[in-house]
Amino acid sequence: MSSLTNKNIILAISGSISAYKSPDIIRRLQDFGAEVRVILTTGGAKFITELSLQAISKHKVHHNLWDKDAELSMGHIELAKWADLILIAPASANTIANIASGKACDLLTSVVLASTAKLMIAPAMNQQMYQAVALQNNLATLTSRQTAIITPDSGVQACGDIGLGRLPDSTDIADQVAKQFKTTELSGKNVLITLGATMEPIDPVRYISNHSSGKMGMALVNRCIEMGAKVTCVYANITTPLNDKAINIQTLSADQMHECVMKHIDQQQIFIAVAAVSDYRVKNPTIQKIKKSDDSLILELTPNKDILLDVCKLSNKPLCIGFAAETQNTLKNAINKLKNKACDVIIANDVSNAEIGFNNDDNQVVFISQNQQQNISKNSKIKIADKILKIFIKEFL
Ligand code: PMT
Repeated sequence: MSSLTNKNIILAISGSISAYKSPDIIRRLQDFGAEVRVILTTGGAKFITELSLQAISKHKVHHNLWDKDAELSMGHIELAKWADLILIAPASANTIANIASGKACDLLTSVVLASTAKLMIAPAMNQQMYQAVALQNNLATLTSRQTAIITPDSGVQACGDIGLGRLPDSTDIADQVAKQFKTTELSGKNVLITLGATMEPIDPVRYISNHSSGKMGMALVNRCIEMGAKVTCVYANITTPLNDKAINIQTLSADQMHECVMKHIDQQQIFIAVAAVSDYRVKNPTIQKIKKSDDSLILELTPNKDILLDVCKLSNKPLCIGFAAETQNTLKNAINKLKNKACDVIIANDVSNAEIGFNNDDNQVVFISQNQQQNISKNSKIKIADKILKIFIKEFL
């Protein structure tokens, strides 16, 4: 089955009798792992109720460009930025014409203009309307702008005509949506990614750890898989779901993660160290729980092995991307890590900003290699992962 894990999809429904299939399209997209928000045009609202769509998508349906409340919460520009893909299904002849001519006459057309997300259109209409030269010219215009057109099915139509114009099966539509995210830039490549927060035992019930959720690392796991890579995901403590298309290996402490990475690194062409690895561990963790007392307690810490450093020292080292989590002098410290660890790329991450970094859905980073330094502006970790990989692939592969 294809995957839409962590993908934000806008399903836009315009005026066609086949709008009755929309709740099922939402369900199928959700089955594939997508988060779905709905835009209902005035025409679409003649065929399907806002209430059904809200119940299935579990979000307020967006329909009005001038809605004061909506503009306060998720306005049309935010909606445009949120989306990874906009699917118009069913797309009426009128909506197709408006989008082809670049109009911003309602919420849907405005969001399409304001978004850089991939656009997919599933035309659904009477067979004669579908064959009309004007409609076909509009579809050709959209195709020339990289819009993906889902070819309608042929058969008996609601009006009694027989021909092309029926909205395809919902699973087929969801599958075509998922295929839009599949690329081949990393096919044939083995990628090992570390993620999450290592946990260093103090005693059987206590540990030293940090705030890493694994979200940034998992976004890279998911994107590498979509780009065709075979991914080994070596994770410590995480709060984000695993991707069952990766080889998932659980570790806990920095020592365990080190051992696991070293065991699998030979077969890898790319290593991405996103894990927040504890630099120290307790020298002598106790076997029994430490009892409370009025005395102060001193824990002796000893340095952990540096996984990234040790991988970079290998004679047959893979291409290595490290992350530098910094709270001050971010760029300077990150550049030092690039040099000291001798990795190919370091991603500078300012973790002093509560809106990005640890345990957040968004991030903002700087891609640094010997040859370049590129700011990647604030966005979802999914989009940040995509940008990091695109810049990396362009420079190194
Ligand atoms: O998981 P999230 O909540 O989504 O948060 C993402 C993140 C903030 C954890 C991530 O973007 C990030 O910055 N990861 C690096 C965390 C870190 O440990 O940074 P560092 O500057 O201490 O380490 C530098 C690099 O060396 C990292 O690639 C780290 O994985 C690696 N390292 C560090 C110590 C060690 N003993 N072994 C290592 O391999």
